[in-house]
Amino acid sequence: MEKYVVSGNKKLYGEVTISGAKNAAVAILPATVLVKDKCIIENVPAISDVTILFKILEGMGAKVRFLNASTVEIDTREINEAVVPYELARYMRASYYFLGALLGRCNEASVSMPGGCDFGVRPIDQHIKGFEMLGAKVSIEKGMINAKAEELEGGHFQFEKVSVGATVNVMLAAVKARGLTVLENAAKEPHIVDLANFLNSMGADIRGAGTDTIKIYGVDILHGTNYSIIPDQIEAGTYMTIAASAGGNVLIKNVIPKHLESISSKLMAAGVEVIEYDDSIRVIREGQLKAVNVKTMPHPGFPTDMQPQMTALLCLAEGTSIVTEGVWDNRFRYVDELRRMGANVQVDGKIAVVQGVSAFTPAPVKACDLRAGAAMIQAALSTDGVTEIEDIQYVERGYENIIEKLTGLGANIRKVEMPDPNLLTSAG
Ligand code: EPZ
Repeated sequence: MEKYVVSGNKKLYGEVTISGAKNAAVAILPATVLVKDKCIIENVPAISDVTILFKILEGMGAKVRFLNASTVEIDTREINEAVVPYELARYMRASYYFLGALLGRCNEASVSMPGGCDFGVRPIDQHIKGFEMLGAKVSIEKGMINAKAEELEGGHFQFEKVSVGATVNVMLAAVKARGLTVLENAAKEPHIVDLANFLNSMGADIRGAGTDTIKIYGVDILHGTNYSIIPDQIEAGTYMTIAASAGGNVLIKNVIPKHLESISSKLMAAGVEVIEYDDSIRVIREGQLKAVNVKTMPHPGFPTDMQPQMTALLCLAEGTSIVTEGVWDNRFRYVDELRRMGANVQVDGKIAVVQGVSAFTPAPVKACDLRAGAAMIQAALSTDGVTEIEDIQYVERGYENIIEKLTGLGANIRKVEMPDPNLLTSAG
């Protein structure tokens, strides 16, 4: 087991380059099974979620070959399996995207029930209803989700709730369904648009991605493609709040500023200077942070995946901020960890009332999930001492080279091996 050791109280200066989007990569890599061909995918982030996807693809019979550190060739011609086993799927929630992709490839799929971050119930009813709309029969037996169809036929489906995962999964199953599929109340996140662009580069016919109505005209054949994944909106946003929290002057490169608008506007309201360029954004913070209210919403609202980082920032703002979680039922578990560092936050269900304090104080803490882990690093960077963060495997799932990127900005953070608790013997 490893932990991060962070020495805080240092302003950050310099440049950081954003990697490919995790939530686009975990949809696009399974989508390669829709073809019996080779795909070359660029700007693939080197994170553990992607590593697991490569293992799942190889387990099915695909060949995965790195052309360089962030470019991979996936050859799906020899895939002979339509099963994603528990021992791999358990580590990565998005493995359920193979349901839609394998349905699209061969009209059947069997994938272990999803795992993933624990912030409330994470149902998949909308995924299943979407597959059934296309004519698939779906059953759940012994922890496996099984889907099978004689033939997939397009239809009209209105999501009861805006769902990124269900929009991705049903889109994957629909691209080769017979006729037209219309998805209403679809998710509009940048990674949905990126997936649609990837599928269209393979010969699919998808229109309206990025709006709440997506039309998918089924095609018979798809072909291999070369595609580059968009920059990660949430990784970029995380470095924006880290720079705003620690103070200093940081240029964040390889971003799409339009994807960051809701984050930029909240940071500017909090007294942070944000300067947008074509493909980079500069964050400058010298003075006192000011309290602002934030409500997370599906895109283009303020992203829920930025909620922990924004809450941790507002812990240092002058005044009282209200943070409302509009997507997940229970995404404030990490606040207990922030309180250990001196935060003054009261949580009532989906609402957190944040009273600003002058500084965080060092304390041993843990990462509750991927984005909460990033928030703990952010808080630790603004203390005047040394903070240790455990359970960092969550952070490594979604932030490529975070130690190198932060030390490149002047942060003092390192990863150290923890003593094996089983080897610790009681004194005496
Ligand atoms: C995706 O999760 C992201 N994960 C999450 O990011 C992100 O928080 C979430 O979208 C919202 O943006 C990936 O893209 C891999 P949802 P997903 O389906 O697809 C309810 C991160 O940190 N719902 O959009 O699982 C659900 O309970 C991760 O990168 C149903 O009711 O989220 C939630 O309240 C954490 N029925 C809401 O919809 C369903 O069938 C949004 O969930 C599906 C979802």
